[in-house]
Order: sequence, then C-alpha cells, then structure tokens
Amino acid sequence: MTTGRFITLEGSEGCGKSTQAAILARRLRDAGHPVIETREPGGTPLGEEIRHLLKFHAASRGMCPEAELLLFSASRAQLVRDVIRPALAAGTLIICDRFLDSSTMYQGIARGLPHQLVQHVHTLAVGDTLPNLTLVLDMDPEKARLRAMRRPRPAGGPEDRMEAEPAEFYRNVAEGYRALAAAEPRRVRIVSAEGPPDEVAARIWEEVRHVL
Ligand code: TMP
Repeated sequence: MTTGRFITLEGSEGCGKSTQAAILARRLRDAGHPVIETREPGGTPLGEEIRHLLKFHAASRGMCPEAELLLFSASRAQLVRDVIRPALAAGTLIICDRFLDSSTMYQGIARGLPHQLVQHVHTLAVGDTLPNLTLVLDMDPEKARLRAMRRPRPAGGPEDRMEAEPAEFYRNVAEGYRALAAAEPRRVRIVSAEGPPDEVAARIWEEVRHVL
C-alpha cells in the first residue's frame, strides 16, 4: 500500500499559518506531489458547521471546556475518517491547518483540562492517524494577537469567540507549543514566523524537504 505524508501547521492566531499552508501546498504541487489542503475545525461539511458553532454561534457563549474539547474532537474524528485516512492510503500529501496539538494547547493547557483526559479523547478521535511533521509557527504572542485583530472581517459580522481571550491565554498557548517541540523534537519543529512571508516559507520548506 502506498502511504502519503501528513503535515500539520500549528501556532497562535495571527502567526500567518493559513497563508503559509497555501504557499507550502503550491510549492509541493509545483514539485509534482498530489496535495490536499484542509483545516481544523472544519474540512468536512459536518466539521465546517462545528467550526461555525464553536467560533461564532451565540449558543457557544459560556460553553464549558469539556463541551469545547468534544466538539473540536468531533470535527477531527470526521475529518480523519472522511478525508485524511483515504488520502494517505492513496499516497496523497495532506497539509492540515491545525490538528490535535491545538486541543492539547487550547483545551488542555490554556483552558486547564487534565492532560491525560485530553490524550484519551485524542485516541478516540484519531487513533493512530498522527502527523509525520508538525510545524509550529512561533511569534511573540502579543504581536500575533495584534495581527489577528487587524485581519479584515465581514462588516457587522459576529466576534470570533476563540479570539476574545485575555493575553495570558495566548501566552500559555505559545509556551505550550514550545514545550511540545522540546518533548517531541522529531515530529514537532518550531519555525520562526517573524519576517516577510517568503522568508517564513523558506524556513518551512527546509523542514518539509526532510520528510519527503
Ligand atoms: P483558526 O483556524 O482561524 O485559527 O481558528 C480556530 C480557532 O479554534 C483558534 O482560535 C484555535 C481554536 N482551536 C482550539 O481551541 N482547539 C482545537 O482543537 C482547534 C483545532 C482549534
């Protein structure tokens, strides 16, 4: 059986992840690789509904961390079975904008759910479908937050619930990612997200070349 490669991008809001995912996908396609780009939460019709619910729906105000973890994980379980596993089996390269490490950071470290419990939920949601490479785009959390706040939004559109936390929340997320990279240095690589997008893209390419 041919197997593809599974690359995830992680980092705080405003670090340029989505832009870099698109640049990487283009570069890989230009190099002749079949590529699927997807994202979390989302990537399937069910996942996109869950994304909207988690980020913008009025009913999500005051959501407890347990419900939040389970909703992110529900979106992930569907994405793994509908998109990621079939694509990997077909030898396709997958680039996913966020994956299970986001839950470890946001619902585990930042919201304070116990680490073991979060890992058990990951086992249910993804089984052994884990990334070959995870790139963490690292940037000063305050700078990233200001960039995220400057992003254009639809006029009069609802506020993004996940981007309305205090600064300490995003500092904890950034520190959590650094600790993860130190604990799993083969899979998780920190890439500086400072500087122009093409320089960041070149750093990312250096890391990706090794898993191809
Ligand atoms: P983004 O894709 O635009 O960054 O939005 C996703 C938001 O959801 C972001 O604030 C991070 C958050 N998130 C979690 O809290 N847990 C998760 O498991 C995932 C995938 C995202």
